[in-house]
Amino acid sequence: MKKVTTLGQFIIERQADFQYAKGELSRLLRDIGIAAKIVNREVNKAGLVDILGEHGTVNSHGEKVKKLDVYANEQFISALGAGGETCAIASEENDELVPVTTDVSRNAKYLVCVDPLDGSSNIDVNVSIGTIFSIYRRANLDGALSEKDFLQNGTAQVASGYIIYGSSTMLVYTTGKGVNGFTLDPSIGEFCLSHPDMKCPGTGKIYSINEGNYVHFPEGVKQYIKYCQEEDESTKRPYSSRYIGSLVADFHRNLLKGGIFIYPSTAKSPKGKLRLLYECNPLAFIIEQAGGKASDGKKRILDIVPTALHQRTPLFIGSVEMVTKAEELMRAYSEQTV
Ligand code: AHG
Ligand code: MN
Ligand code: MN
Repeated sequence: MKKVTTLGQFIIERQADFQYAKGELSRLLRDIGIAAKIVNREVNKAGLVDILGEHGTVNSHGEKVKKLDVYANEQFISALGAGGETCAIASEENDELVPVTTDVSRNAKYLVCVDPLDGSSNIDVNVSIGTIFSIYRRANLDGALSEKDFLQNGTAQVASGYIIYGSSTMLVYTTGKGVNGFTLDPSIGEFCLSHPDMKCPGTGKIYSINEGNYVHFPEGVKQYIKYCQEEDESTKRPYSSRYIGSLVADFHRNLLKGGIFIYPSTAKSPKGKLRLLYECNPLAFIIEQAGGKASDGKKRILDIVPTALHQRTPLFIGSVEMVTKAEELMRAYSEQTV
């Protein structure tokens, strides 16, 4: 029989990879795994209990919040608070940063950015949703914690990952030494290593973009879509169009099969829709670790210097060849906007 490696065992085995205090980051990753299992339980029974529907509140982006968004946010904040390694969290669901470990004696060194429930418009319709997280070290341990502590480049991430609540539940993460995926075995309640050393194919046959916004896209994106739809045997075009509307799910599929996901700037949203700190940076770290590429259409996502917690950025992410081609067309048509 094949040996099963649980997430907990794997984290301990790989502790030597960590640059900093080993036990602390291990405990933090373990806490995320625990919160993920709790959220997964609720996601799975969402159709059974009265947890569906809108919660009635509005988040920092003016979007209506579903009950599961609130629930997932509370679970991650409480698990990370109880763990004691995280001093504060920046969450999509909170306008301001949330201090979690106030006991100074704990000397919590980590900052966590989280999109607790990604793809929330898919909750009610039984389509895959996810959680995205990113972990930084607090650069300055003295003085009061402020938003500035979170404004670090994506290259400073010590770990990032996502959980996909899909036909099975998976947790995928990196600490900068490759990407590993774990599938939740419900019979033992453990994430088990199922996708060791994940690699994104250099090219693929899938493009993922909300084409309903086509008229508002920059000319470079329109040209890239045209390129995807053209016939060419050597590059196996036309490509297939696949768009779930849950970033985590679209990203996960393209990571495994090869492909490109694009959420560009539009005439209406010049910075796009997705958030740098808790959507784009964590996935950019993962895709690079898997041999892929992440760009804002011009430059590397991980090199963007953040100026605000909820900052948005256009995103082009996936197989190297496809992202490079899209960038090429973005450059070629940069004079023409819409
Ligand atoms: P969230 O549910 O966390 O607000 O994120 C939704 C995001 C992302 O998951 C998805 O890729 C994108 O919104 C879809 O947006 P459109 O409906 O505009 O295509
Ligand atoms: Mn999201
Ligand atoms: Mn969300």
